[in-house]
Amino acid sequence: MKITYYGHSCFLLEVASKRILFDPFITGNPLAVNIKIQSIKADYILISHGHGDHIGDAVEIARQTNALVISNYEICNWIQDKGINQIHSMNIGGHKLFDFGKLKCVNAIHSSSFPDGSYGGNPMGFLLETTEGNLYYSGDTALTYDMKLIGDYKRIDLCMLPIGNNFTMGIDNALIASEFVKCDRIIGMHYDTFEPIKIDHAEAKDKFSNAGKELILMNIGSTMTF
Ligand code: NI
Ligand code: MN
Repeated sequence: MKITYYGHSCFLLEVASKRILFDPFITGNPLAVNIKIQSIKADYILISHGHGDHIGDAVEIARQTNALVISNYEICNWIQDKGINQIHSMNIGGHKLFDFGKLKCVNAIHSSSFPDGSYGGNPMGFLLETTEGNLYYSGDTALTYDMKLIGDYKRIDLCMLPIGNNFTMGIDNALIASEFVKCDRIIGMHYDTFEPIKIDHAEAKDKFSNAGKELILMNIGSTMTF
């Protein structure tokens, strides 16, 4: 699988010849000024919750790519109200087979309202089982014991976890989360974008490597193959 980082919590996953975009927030991100959303191609857009720093460019990218938007019921309705008809709503605990693999929606401890303050349903994370490996994208979340369920029942090859603290888990709790899901390769997200979530990169990487794990902090615009 190939992963491209577009800043904050936005990644493009290429797996099974499909392109899956997570939590598009690019035009509002001062660190992602060099990314042009017109250049992004996607077959699917997965949205973890309704906050602006996760949903910001979803409508525009869905419109230009015709990608299928997958999220909770409330977010899918909101997207549809903006004129996007290719939607698929799910909720926590449910899974469905897509042509890229099996997608399961899992618990996240956070909140979820839209930029106008209206109700955005429950926040969630995503578990993807594919022929090229299993991936856990936690979304914005606190550390939660529910993560143990994921690690106990699935082999997780790669996980994306927030490490910026303040609004989500910070580095120390993300390290525990990676232990709960039994994954040694972690891509950090939700850090540096805003003042309250700026982190010390060297310190963060050291804490993971001291625990025998690898924390990957991708450059915005870069692509890695796993
Ligand atoms: Ni949030
Ligand atoms: Mn957020």
